[in-house]
Amino acid sequence: MESVVVALGGNAILGRGVKPTYANQLKRIMESAKSIAIGIRRSRYGIIVITHGNGPQVGDEFLRNEYSRKVLPPLPLHMLTAETQATIGAMLQRCLLYEFSRLHIDRDVEVVITHALVNKNDTAFEKATKPIGPFYNRNELKNEMKSGAFDYVHEQGRYRRVVASPKPLKVLEIGAIKKLASSGAVVIAGGGGGIPVIKSRIGYAGVDAVIDKDYTSQVIASALDVDRLSILTEPEYVYMDFPKNKMPVKNVRLGRPMPEIKFMEEGTMKPKVEACMQFISNGGNKACIGNIKNMESANGGVFGTVFRK
Ligand SMILES: Nc1ncnc2c1ncn2[C@@H]1O[C@H](COP(=O)(O)OP(=O)(O)OP(=O)(O)O)[C@@H](O)[C@H]1O
Ligand SMILES: [Mg+2]
Repeated sequence: MESVVVALGGNAILGRGVKPTYANQLKRIMESAKSIAIGIRRSRYGIIVITHGNGPQVGDEFLRNEYSRKVLPPLPLHMLTAETQATIGAMLQRCLLYEFSRLHIDRDVEVVITHALVNKNDTAFEKATKPIGPFYNRNELKNEMKSGAFDYVHEQGRYRRVVASPKPLKVLEIGAIKKLASSGAVVIAGGGGGIPVIKSRIGYAGVDAVIDKDYTSQVIASALDVDRLSILTEPEYVYMDFPKNKMPVKNVRLGRPMPEIKFMEEGTMKPKVEACMQFISNGGNKACIGNIKNMESANGGVFGTVFRK
């Protein structure tokens, strides 16, 4: 039986440009849960761990905290990732349980609040790269920038806040994830890349950053020694010269010359490609980057840009 870590991108949680209401997110998550359940029924996987991003949601929580600071003290950024693990995790859990009952899949679904250890000297703390929260146009950006607290990135004609995004070294709850997944439960873990912590005198301390869930997905996939890492995102493939020319990269073989990917954005596509390469070089069998709809119809679970040894 194949084992898999499936990483859900923001697109699987909320459509681009759609208002981030609870109802809109639940609707999109329900569609994603349906695709995942169909995939599980077709392929009869053993271990299944689902990770997910939280870029838009953690940025929105950040804004909520900022706007209400006159009445309530804001929570630190790392605690907002904890909140999004619970909210996105609960929605996904509920939707999967519903789809499993409909398709007669007899599996538990568990959400594991996950911490990821990072190095306090990670150079990522020197330059913010991870986009979070809403998009701003030029006028909105002028107003936004008055706080002076953030850096911004230009993404497809609009602007977004960026925060530091250190690499995860290990996931603290990996033992629990393994036990649950081995018992047959579908485990939702590593949400939003994990709550970033560093070692401290009292054990672990949270740090204000957002880890890219693609790296954490790889850390979990390699630690569990699964066969496959599937990264579900908006584009159908990694493109060679994005966004000018959408020539798809279909296959990447680790020991062979790498297709020339001319543009790989920090904080979006680069973490995915690096995560897949690392997974394969650690002994993983296959890694895919592509759209969730293609995964549903994929033969043998292979879709999008495929990485192999
Ligand atoms: N070479 C490339 N090929 C395809 N897409 C690319 C490339 N370089 C950058 N991108 C961008 O990467 C985006 C996908 O990464 P992104 O981080 O936005 O999504 P995600 O990881 O699925 O979701 P989230 O980070 O919100 O959880 C695409 O929508 C596209 O804009
Ligand atoms: Mg991303």
